[in-house]
Amino acid sequence: MRRYSRIAGTGSSLPPRRVTNDDLVAQLAQQGIETSDEWIVERTGIRSRHFAERDVASSDLALEASRRALEAAGRQPQDIDLIIVATSTPDMVFPSTACILQHKLGANGCPAFDVQAVCSGFVYALTVADAMIQSGAASRALVVGAEVFSRILDFKDRTTCVLFGDGAGAVVLEASETPGILASDLHADGSHVGILCVPGNVYGGQILGDPLLKMDGQAVFKLAVGLLDKAARATLDKAGLTDADVDWLIPHQANIRIMQSTARKLKLPMDKVVVTVDQHGNTSAASIPLALDHAVRAGQVKPGQTVLLEGVGGGFTWGAVLLKI
Ligand SMILES: CC(C)(COP(=O)(O)OP(=O)(O)OC[C@H]1O[C@@H](n2cnc3c(N)ncnc32)[C@H](O)[C@@H]1OP(=O)(O)O)[C@@H](O)C(=O)NCCC(=O)NCCS
Repeated sequence: MRRYSRIAGTGSSLPPRRVTNDDLVAQLAQQGIETSDEWIVERTGIRSRHFAERDVASSDLALEASRRALEAAGRQPQDIDLIIVATSTPDMVFPSTACILQHKLGANGCPAFDVQAVCSGFVYALTVADAMIQSGAASRALVVGAEVFSRILDFKDRTTCVLFGDGAGAVVLEASETPGILASDLHADGSHVGILCVPGNVYGGQILGDPLLKMDGQAVFKLAVGLLDKAARATLDKAGLTDADVDWLIPHQANIRIMQSTARKLKLPMDKVVVTVDQHGNTSAASIPLALDHAVRAGQVKPGQTVLLEGVGGGFTWGAVLLKI
């Protein structure tokens, strides 16, 4: 009998400090930088985001999200035999945030590693966990997206600092006789490294290069709109389904205009699209599992429904995962 993987529980976590557009307008004004709630809402759909305090790391947000996902799945940390954390804002250069999370959870012993695919990180991590479960290498995985992007933002650059936020989302993915994950489709094109990056690195105890986020917003926008549609169609084709079979689209929450454009291309009305970008901003690898958990807990996404997840981000990376919840 074929072995599948299935989501058994979801969880998420947001740092308590909510920063509205008006809060940011006031903060930037102190440095003589002009922006407005109207501009941010019109161009991005973002109204607020959450920022973690200085002493809160990605692993702390991941821990809270993981505990909630485990509780929803009716599982204990000891039941987990694989931990994958998708993050571009790890606690340390090494070890991985997944190892730090494992220790905080008290789930020691199982394999634990990070996946670095920026905003596509969660669809990458979920695809890897699904493959490991299908192969028999794991039976019950914790798959997490966790970020503290607020600490790599350049608050002198109004074109980027208004877009991102902090948070974490997690799922427990278990071996199952019924699907679960139906298909996935992942891609990367490293020729676009420069359009979205944090170019700094550590050299001899010093930071070499600029450790703050750089983005060519228009180039990212154009690429994202074209690529997401292709990945979604390829994933549906692999599963032998069409856009009419999709109950919910949960896209990476970067910009409402990118989400609207993708939905239009897939002929999905916006009431089939889970939207949290207005409240969370772009939380990179955390955005999809955060949105999924919010939709599950709000009773929007229901057991048995077909859900299409789509990620796109730095690298350039992109991909989609189709699943039955
Ligand atoms: C960043 C983004 C919102 C900018 O929107 P845009 O419509 O492309 O805007 P432009 O870059 O053309 O800038 C238009 C004007 O707004 C200004 N502007 C930029 N940021 C601003 C801000 N926060 N507040 C006010 N004005 C701003 C620009 O300086 C420019 O002014 P000018 O015309 O006088 O030169 C948009 O390109 C985008 O969403 N890109 C994708 C980003 C993304 O999703 N990244 C993550 C992918 S994982």
